[in-house]
Amino acid sequence: MAADSNIKTDSDIKTDGDVKIGFIGIGTLGRGLALALDAAGRPVTAAASRRRESADWLAARIPGCIAMDAAQPVADACDLVFITTPDGAIAGVASGVDWRSGQGVAHCCGAASVELLESAADAGAAVGALHPFQTFAGLSEPADAARRLDGVTFAIAANGWLESYLPNLAAALGGRAIAISDELRPLYHASAVLGCGYVATLLHAAISLWEPLGLHADDGASAVMPLVRATVEAIANAGTLAAATGPAVRGDAATTAAHLAALTHHAPHLAPLYRELTIATLPLAQGKGVSPQRLAELADAIAGFR
Ligand SMILES: NC(=O)c1ccc[n+]([C@@H]2O[C@H](COP(=O)([O-])OP(=O)(O)OC[C@H]3O[C@@H](n4cnc5c(N)ncnc54)[C@H](OP(=O)(O)O)[C@@H]3O)[C@@H](O)[C@H]2O)c1
Repeated sequence: MAADSNIKTDSDIKTDGDVKIGFIGIGTLGRGLALALDAAGRPVTAAASRRRESADWLAARIPGCIAMDAAQPVADACDLVFITTPDGAIAGVASGVDWRSGQGVAHCCGAASVELLESAADAGAAVGALHPFQTFAGLSEPADAARRLDGVTFAIAANGWLESYLPNLAAALGGRAIAISDELRPLYHASAVLGCGYVATLLHAAISLWEPLGLHADDGASAVMPLVRATVEAIANAGTLAAATGPAVRGDAATTAAHLAALTHHAPHLAPLYRELTIATLPLAQGKGVSPQRLAELADAIAGFR
């Protein structure tokens, strides 16, 4: 755990552990992060959301957290407010609140930086962006939220007292802070989407192919999931190159062409995806020592399905 630092707000000087934290927008991340902060001993004292029941959900799980009917009372009651609405709503929510000079306002968007909080900065607030490189989807137990942040990377941009406070907060949650320049945050966030959301998209596609096989999607999920778990484990243990398998990394043009032909017939919407993934796999095939000639055969086989 990081050492406390002195924080000067408009009203007094506090240590990290005394900073009262509020949330506006109690969805997937707002729930998970608030629960994790509570588990780390940080005072989460107020919550508001578009629907009152969402704020009530959090207040029922965090002792000392009060559900509010609107954003302003959360801002009035807290030293630091996380705006955890969808990305597109953050700037609008921020500009609808009267912020105090010296208080902290942060969001958790990965692709954007503190520019979303310009209205709060104009009012003299310290502003920050703290993006956990983690998903909060599918949490069922409050304690899981804290476990899920252990060892996680947080991309942080901040000014004022949040410059030291937010990295300390990441450390208190068991994570590590990194700085990404504002212009590169969309690229950084694309990495998160490829590693998380689009994994779900890819597996959805893999499972969906079990329907044209005449089987149920549940059969597909049962077949695919052990494969996915073993693959993720192999990647974690040995890296992507060692874990990469399949016809493309073996330089097998005939099987790759057969897959593309079958997809074109039974699931044509997935053929372009398979083709692009094959192209993205070529550097791995090269890394595994597939000869230039076999790589050229693969490229020819793919070109036939343009
Ligand atoms: N999901 C993740 O795992 C994850 C990971 C890293 C970063 N993030 C970031 O976290 C932020 C939130 O994402 P999310 O996935 O949690 O989205 P989400 O599940 O859609 O939750 C956002 C919540 O904000 C509330 N909301 C919407 N508009 C609002 C408004 N104008 N005022 C107050 N509350 C409003 C909604 O609450 P009601 O239920 O009350 O309608 C909704 O449940 C985003 O910036 C995202 O980039 C998410």
